[in-house]
Amino acid sequence: MADKYFTHKGVLFPCLNYSHEALSYVENEFQVRDDDVFNVTYPKSGTNWMLEILCLIRCDGDPGWVRSVLNWERAPWVESQLESALKYPAPRLLCSHLPVQLFPKSLQRSKAKVIYTLRCPKDVLVSMHHFSKLLLLLKDAGSLDPFLEDFLSGNVIYGSWFDHVTGWMGLKGNENFFSITYEELQEDPRGSVRRICHFLGKELSEEQVAAVVENASFQSMRGNKMCNFSQLDDQYMDHEKGQFLRKGEPRVGAAGQD
Ligand code: PPS
Repeated sequence: MADKYFTHKGVLFPCLNYSHEALSYVENEFQVRDDDVFNVTYPKSGTNWMLEILCLIRCDGDPGWVRSVLNWERAPWVESQLESALKYPAPRLLCSHLPVQLFPKSLQRSKAKVIYTLRCPKDVLVSMHHFSKLLLLLKDAGSLDPFLEDFLSGNVIYGSWFDHVTGWMGLKGNENFFSITYEELQEDPRGSVRRICHFLGKELSEEQVAAVVENASFQSMRGNKMCNFSQLDDQYMDHEKGQFLRKGEPRVGAAGQD
């Protein structure tokens, strides 16, 4: 179990699909382009939801792309799918969970756009805890109480939620940085999509905005095998134990009741 993770510059990463070499390359040599769009989050904060929204915006609300191409091919992960990220034709749409200090340094010299989605840490904690039982590259977190201790001390993959959010939110005010919460996406999906479009410099009609919201809804995504992770190989996910799109709601009640 212990060797499922390794530490890179003080942050835990899964051994499968990640390496010191790739992480160092990404931080120091990966060349960010001005027309890149990065979907950045701490794990379990709405990454795949935002990804679906961004793909649909790119296609003016038309669901053809999101229904025919797997989400991790539509927007590869810089830190764990480096080869795909490097091959991706411009304008690139890329995902990352990296904390800001490990993100490509070349971002600072570019006009690339970063969309940072954050979610209430209690919900992140519960979602991560469940996910640790399904995703085989993660250690099964055991019961919730000790996992809470690990979460609070940053002894989890991608490190501390608090450091991640504080680090990225330090970019607030930068014209190429946009932040939004999972909860805002839930409370006002149309308004949120309009704000994202505005940031991207892409204006959609009301019908197109409605199509983005509809095709990126929890129910639509659950039924779409291109984004519900049902196609993820058994070596990565135990499909018997649950679904990636688990609940998709703010958590109500005390710890452990989910
Ligand atoms: S990951 O593994 O870190 O990339 O996970 P991530 O995509 O960041 O977050 C997964 C949680 O997001 C929920 N989700 C959604 N909620 C509402 N609407 C939509 N469309 C949606 N899509 C994904 C997903 O269910 C996970 O949350 P929980 O609380 O576990 O259900």
